[in-house]
Amino acid sequence: LFQKATETIEHLRKNVPENLQYPKVAIICGSGLGGLVDTIHAEPRAEIPYSDIPHFPVSTVVGHAGRMVFGLMGPQNLPIVLLVGRAHFYEGYELGLITYATRVCKVLGVEIMIVTNAAGGLNQEYSVGDIVILNDHINLPGFAGFNPLRGPNENDFGVRFPPLSDAYDLDLRRRAHKAWTKLGFDKGPRRVHEGVYAFVTGPTFETRAECRLLRTWGADVVGMSTVPEIVVARHSGMRVLAFSLVTNKAVLEPGVSGKDESIQNMSPKELEIYLSAGKANHEEVLEAGREAAKDMQELVKQVLSDLYDP
Ligand code: 6GU
Repeated sequence: LFQKATETIEHLRKNVPENLQYPKVAIICGSGLGGLVDTIHAEPRAEIPYSDIPHFPVSTVVGHAGRMVFGLMGPQNLPIVLLVGRAHFYEGYELGLITYATRVCKVLGVEIMIVTNAAGGLNQEYSVGDIVILNDHINLPGFAGFNPLRGPNENDFGVRFPPLSDAYDLDLRRRAHKAWTKLGFDKGPRRVHEGVYAFVTGPTFETRAECRLLRTWGADVVGMSTVPEIVVARHSGMRVLAFSLVTNKAVLEPGVSGKDESIQNMSPKELEIYLSAGKANHEEVLEAGREAAKDMQELVKQVLSDLYDP
């Protein structure tokens, strides 16, 4: 795998200017969060579509046109690489392919991995548009044997049994909270939280009963990405900072009973409106992303410029 990643990198180096070839930070941008590209300097910049990168999966979901962007960020001209769009398990890719870009980042010399995603809010204190700094995760597919590290251990990257109890870097989380205040976002319309991300495979959104189960198991947000990449990043010792944007509130209330008298006399139209309340859909997810994405981008940028401030 190390050899394969080296091949990918040889190709990348042919298409990336010398001064951008050694990023210290990688940012994986979730659904609707690719606007981070605009926060790096326009020149010099190198954009390479995933379809042109050897061994990369090509993502198919609407709104996730995949590309790798090399550039410089902030006043320090920090070399970074952005992964805009990612492959998901529900598309049919194996976890090894989904996390291949993360391996490539490690071989490129990346030390810090920042991951963003759009997620459903299970914690009822959260509102749409809030930002959650992840401090832990629940890898549900992992319980069933779907772990990206399954198979022979890649000794060039890390150990057979990596710990994950410290997966979400405390120093980076503290910096994210400080950056939030520094930007004045504590006076803005949205709140920042720290919480636990539950990874599910999708593509179906959760049932009400599944949402209640995830909540009682301690999850604050639920989504279909991020955890495989974080597992692989931690295996190879990269520091991780991850953010979820709450794009919708998951419905925890039980569905109505067919015997419920209050709905027996509703017209079909009334019933339709009543039952569609709180139903998750992809457009809603993308819309909330657009609104809050700017703040998330500024937050990431502020954390990095503080981190690398001489
Ligand atoms: Cl409600 N569930 C999952 N699994 N992923 C999501 C979501 C919900 N909202 C945005 N992404």
